[in-house]
Amino acid sequence: MAKGLDVGTMNLISAQQEGAETVFVQQRNSFVEIEYSDMAEQMLSRSDVLHIRKDDKVYVVGDDALNFANIFNEETRRPMQHGILSSEESSAIPMIKLITEQVVGQPNHPGERLYFSSPADPIDSNLSTLYHEKTLESMLGDMGYETEPINEGMAVIYSELANHNFTGLGVSFGAGMTNVCLSYYAVPVMKFSIARGGDWIDEQAAQATGTPVDKVTSIKEDDFELDFRTDVGGVEGALAIYYENLLDYVIENIAREVDEEDVEEDLDVPVVVTGGTSSPRGFEKLFEDHLRDASIPFSIREVQSVDEPLYSVARGALVAARSDEEQEEQESGGRQAQESPAED
Ligand SMILES: Nc1ncnc2c1ncn2[C@@H]1O[C@H](COP(=O)(O)OP(=O)(O)O)[C@@H](O)[C@H]1O
Ligand SMILES: [Mg+2]
Repeated sequence: MAKGLDVGTMNLISAQQEGAETVFVQQRNSFVEIEYSDMAEQMLSRSDVLHIRKDDKVYVVGDDALNFANIFNEETRRPMQHGILSSEESSAIPMIKLITEQVVGQPNHPGERLYFSSPADPIDSNLSTLYHEKTLESMLGDMGYETEPINEGMAVIYSELANHNFTGLGVSFGAGMTNVCLSYYAVPVMKFSIARGGDWIDEQAAQATGTPVDKVTSIKEDDFELDFRTDVGGVEGALAIYYENLLDYVIENIAREVDEEDVEEDLDVPVVVTGGTSSPRGFEKLFEDHLRDASIPFSIREVQSVDEPLYSVARGALVAARSDEEQEEQESGGRQAQESPAED
């Protein structure tokens, strides 16, 4: 047995294999602090809402945080920002720990393999991913897992490009970040992240139209399409503008990084776009049109979208964890086979 975990700014998602099926468990990476009261106590004790009490405060975490925020007229808070643990949130670590425990559960056996996604260092901010990665590693290790970080873009390659020999460009459009990885036969030849994603689109569109961010996010997640037929001046019009701007920004950075890395010029690669932000209809078409217009030294075979964009990273982390575990079993099996004849 082995597990994969996608550690995202908005969603924490685990994956594990059960027979022929991959099973996912998902929670929102957010929480709300409410004052302890008899009413709160009653509501919580009669439900299976994920929460902890600390002194005179109660923290509701995960998917239920938003409902409780609305009932108690509080704001939800987030342990992560721009793809890594937030330095502005003092409760970040205990909260993400609680959500993670719920999402991955106990190890099936001591030392079970768990691969978790970790972003590449962003090229457009001085955020470092080291502290984030090490903190998660020790947190998951304390739970009894044998953990290994896997680059988020590489997880996308493992999940979506198995039938292309793990060769291609994987782009994961999340909430806090966009992660890019170019892989050649399962070897990453270029990887980087950008500290912009769905949150950035929401914030910009909110500011431009004077609409609360939460409202913008729900409009975006509910039936929004990138067809550019939406009326000018509305929230959807603003969303389309910032979506296009984000895509251009990502493509611009791909072109620059490819140039710097001296990537082989006669490559002909498939491109996969995934992540929650890639969900709106019309997304991969828009990305493909803009990518073909850009001056990139390798050729693009096709741009694919995926059926379940929220699950790519968790699935890829699981693929990596399982292949690591299988390899170790083979090695130890091989060792035993070698050792046993010597025994008698
Ligand atoms: N149907 C949808 N349409 C547009 N955006 C969506 C949709 N569903 C989720 N999102 C956006 O995707 C992002 C979350 O995606 P996810 O890949 O889980 O990010 P992360 O890994 O950073 O947590 C958020 O910005 C969310 O608003
Ligand atoms: Mg994610």
